Amino acid sequence: MTAAVLSESLAAALAAAPGDRIVYDLAGIERRYDALRRELPDVRVRFAMKACPLDEVLGLLARKGAGVDAASPGEVAQALRAGVPAGRTHYGNTVKSDRNIAEAHRLGIRTFATDSLQDVAALAVHAPGARVFCRVATGGAGAVWGLSHKFGSPPGDAVRIMERARDLGLVPAGLSVHVGSQQMTGEAWHTALEDLGAVLHALDLRGIRVDHVNLGGGLPALGYRDRHGAPLEPPLDKIFAVIREGMDELRRVHGGPLEFVIEPGRHLVADHGAIRAHVARLAERRGTDGERRHWLYLSCGKFNGLYEMDALQYPLVFPGHTTGPYVPAVVAGPTCDSDDAYAHEAGLVPVPRALASGDPVWVLSSGAYATSYTTLGFNGFAPLPHAWAGRPDGAGADG
Ligand SMILES: Cc1ncc(COP(=O)(O)O)c(C=O)c1O
Repeated sequence: MTAAVLSESLAAALAAAPGDRIVYDLAGIERRYDALRRELPDVRVRFAMKACPLDEVLGLLARKGAGVDAASPGEVAQALRAGVPAGRTHYGNTVKSDRNIAEAHRLGIRTFATDSLQDVAALAVHAPGARVFCRVATGGAGAVWGLSHKFGSPPGDAVRIMERARDLGLVPAGLSVHVGSQQMTGEAWHTALEDLGAVLHALDLRGIRVDHVNLGGGLPALGYRDRHGAPLEPPLDKIFAVIREGMDELRRVHGGPLEFVIEPGRHLVADHGAIRAHVARLAERRGTDGERRHWLYLSCGKFNGLYEMDALQYPLVFPGHTTGPYVPAVVAGPTCDSDDAYAHEAGLVPVPRALASGDPVWVLSSGAYATSYTTLGFNGFAPLPHAWAGRPDGAGADG
C-alpha cells in the first residue's frame, strides 16, 4: 500500500527537501481528478477547498473545469483570486452569519447550502434570488468522521425548508448530502441516495422541481491505515458503482432534467501530499502502568500537520533505514500536549531501532486537512487577534 501512494516524483521531492515541509504532487492530484472524471463522467466536480487551500491546487483544478465548495467569504475570495469563476464557486457551509452571506453575495456567489428555516430567511434578505441547496442529513455510519450532528435536515424538514425558500423568492435549486468523511462503505451512499430520492419525490408532488443534486464529499483517500496500523482499503469501485446506480434511480424518480455535482476533498489531495518531518528522539520509558514502551517523537504532530492522527495512522517511511531491527513504538508529536500522540492503545508502529535525532521521516497520505487544520485559518476563518483587558503600564483594552 505504501508503494501505491508514493509516486516517484513525490519521493524525489521528499528526498531533496532541505528541511521539514509538506510536499504536494500536483501531477498526482491531476491524475486523481482525471480518474474521478472517468468514473463519474456526467458529474461536475467542486473541490472542497478546505482540504487543501493552496492557490496552485485551486488553479490547476479550475483550469481543468472544476469548481469549488467554499466554507466562508475568506475561502470564496481566495478561490476567485486563484482563478475559479464565481459561477463555479458554491457556498457549501450551512453555518453562516448575515455578514458571511452578504459578503459572499457581494463577491458574486449565487448558490448556497442551507439546512434551517432561519438560514433560509437570512439568505432571502442578504442574497436575494439565490439558488439554494438543502442539505439532507445522513447517519454517518461507515465514515471515519461522521458529519451527522451539526449538519443537515431530516427529509420532512428538508421539504419544508425548500417550500419556505420558494415562498421567500429564493430558487429551491437542489439537494445536497454528505455521507461522512473517509466513508468506507457503499451502503452509506445507497442510503443517502435513497433519502434524496424520497425528498425529490415529495418536492415534485408540491411542484418544486429542483435541477441539481450535490453528492457532497466523503470519497475516501486510499493510503491511510486504521488506528491499529492495518491498511484501510476502501472499496472504491463499489462506491462508484453505487453512486452511478443511485444517480440513475434519482433521474428516474424525478422524471425531469437533473444535474449532479460532487465535492471531494480528501480523495483528491490526501495521497498526493506527504510531510517531510524529522525524528526528535526515539526514547524508551517506563509508563505509570510499569510497562516499558518506545516512543518515537517526531517534529510534527497533532498541532502542526497531523490533526487527524488520533483517528487513523499515516504510513511512515524512514529513508536511510530500510532494514531492521524494528521496535514497536507510540508515535507522538513534539508539543507538551499528551493528546499529541497516536497508537497508544491501538497498534504500535514498528520503527527502526537505529533511528537517531534529526533523521528524516516521511509521513505519507497527509495531504488533506494538514496545512488547513493547523497552519492556516481552517475553512477560511482567520485565527483570533488578541487584545488586552488591562496592562501593568496602564494601556487600554486595545493598547
Ligand atoms: C460541504 C462539504 N463538502 C465537502 C466536504 C469534503 O469532504 P471530504 O474531504 O470528506 O471529501 C466537506 C468537508 O467537511 C464539506 O463540509
